[in-house]
Amino acid sequence: MSYQTIPQHFIDDLIARTDIVELIEARVPLKSAGHNLKGLCPFHQEKSSSFTVSQTKQFYYCFGCHASGNAIGFLMAYDRFSFIEAVEYLAKQQGVSLPKEYSSNTTYEKSNVDHYDLLKEVMQFYCQQLKHHPQKERVVQYLKDRGLTGEICKQFAIGYSPSEWDSLLKKFNPKRSELLATGMLIEKNNSHYDRFRDRIMFPIRDKRGRVLGFGGRILDKGEPKYLNSPETALFHKGSELYGLYEAMQAKRQFDYMVVVEGYMDVVALAQYGITTTVATMGTALTPKQLTRLFRLTPEVILCFDGDDAGRDAAWRALETSLPLLSDEYSLKFIFLPNRYDPDSFVRELGKDAFLQLIKKATPFSEVFIKHLLAQVDTSYVSGQARLVSLASPLLAQLPQGVLREMLIEQLMPYTRLNRARLLEAIFPGQVNTRKIARAPAKTGGLSPVDRALCLLLQRTEVVGLVNKIEELQVLPYANTGLLIELVHLLQAQPSLSIGALLAHWPEAVQQELAALAAKPLLLTEDDAIVREFTDIVNKLHQEVTQVQLGHLLAKIRRDDLSELNPADRSKIHELLRKDEEV
Ligand code: UTP
Ligand code: MN
Repeated sequence: MSYQTIPQHFIDDLIARTDIVELIEARVPLKSAGHNLKGLCPFHQEKSSSFTVSQTKQFYYCFGCHASGNAIGFLMAYDRFSFIEAVEYLAKQQGVSLPKEYSSNTTYEKSNVDHYDLLKEVMQFYCQQLKHHPQKERVVQYLKDRGLTGEICKQFAIGYSPSEWDSLLKKFNPKRSELLATGMLIEKNNSHYDRFRDRIMFPIRDKRGRVLGFGGRILDKGEPKYLNSPETALFHKGSELYGLYEAMQAKRQFDYMVVVEGYMDVVALAQYGITTTVATMGTALTPKQLTRLFRLTPEVILCFDGDDAGRDAAWRALETSLPLLSDEYSLKFIFLPNRYDPDSFVRELGKDAFLQLIKKATPFSEVFIKHLLAQVDTSYVSGQARLVSLASPLLAQLPQGVLREMLIEQLMPYTRLNRARLLEAIFPGQVNTRKIARAPAKTGGLSPVDRALCLLLQRTEVVGLVNKIEELQVLPYANTGLLIELVHLLQAQPSLSIGALLAHWPEAVQQELAALAAKPLLLTEDDAIVREFTDIVNKLHQEVTQVQLGHLLAKIRRDDLSELNPADRSKIHELLRKDEEV
């Protein structure tokens, strides 16, 4: 019963069928980083992510502690499984069973049939029916009428399910229970019949090409127009994307990915050379699907009809996307002209016209702002308040970052609230409004810069507490330049007397400085001076952050986010972090 006796081909096969990304992701939070995924290594303590998982190599590796391995190795290391337990676990997940003589103790269902293989055979059977079924002329005519070429049908493995009630039953007779388990049969009064009859069949494949289920379209008029496989162990509507496998066959890297509503749309666009397209299975886009897409591409473009229903669907998708929209990712929208779907659009107006739609897709921010403004009249206070109450819970779901800041900036003028109050509405009780309101430091009638000069001139030792004073130069106070010069001078020559110091400036400046040097401090203890000085300098630095943030936010206020350069993006992140720290 030792593991050496498990045939190697069984293990190879198992690893080939397992997706290491899904396996690890269920245990360790991962984020996409280029072609790989990254996260904090579960095998050693670390603060930055050195743990990488490669989708293509089906392998993990930690740059920190050098832990590495395949799916089996991961389970052994992470779940502390024995080799055989890891193999059993994966086999069970794949719906295959380990030959009895190798298994440790768990018992499995007797079924030796591999559901994936069965569905693949079913797909091939449906494809063959296009050539062999007595109805084939009618079916092929339908496909031709829809403008589909033989080539594209082959690429998407489009087939035909015969009209008989028992064609699968007959063809795969000994595998009745597997047909049932994969959703291909319907059970009624203890008898079974084919779920899909007399339909054009669209196999739904995962990104590795395994058949999970089908969508079937009726040829003539009738209800339902499309019938889908039910949820099974293999097929989960809310996670899969129709056309992903085919898109990945055509390309390995995607600048963007378009999501459309129908199977026919995906196929038609592919036929016209637009291969970066997927569809949901007749349901709204789920967070899981969107997460999958963002792993493949930084930009997802959702395509909707231009009518009210399309706009509603777009808004629902937008709401779903909120928590996922960190700054690496962008979401855009296409609204088709009335009465078109992507299929009819591309056939009638051509590839370039559709590429134009992609190019001119509406950014997330525009859809967001317009949708909210359409619901309120901001010329009244009540409308302004309503805008705030509509926007706040949505903004609160967005990750901190450029997008959220941009939306806040864009909404501010309509709400008539300042930034502090708007933030308070979005994150009630979580924002230090005093900090944001930036109460001016108490400086005895002097500007904070003058007060800092005053303290510094009278206790030059405090210069040792100052860092990065040059950053203050963006501040609007009159003597900011002077403060910077004085600090630099004192840092270079700490032992200069006040008299010698003053000699560095022209007469008029000397007088001003001398007056500040002589001003009563109202503080006697040294540590009170140190505290006040530190406090003022910190406040000045906070103001710098605000000013810099203000510049950048003004810059992005009108722009499409995608035009913001990477340096600006990372600067905004840094400033937001700083702003939240103090
Ligand atoms: P549409 O009715 O818009 O389909 O449904 P379509 O792609 O334009 O189909 P054609 O052009 O008439 O052939 C869009 C998607 O909604 C799901 C299917 O996934 C379909 O592709 N749907 C639609 C169903 O699941 N059931 C239905 O009855 C209709
Ligand atoms: Mn259509």
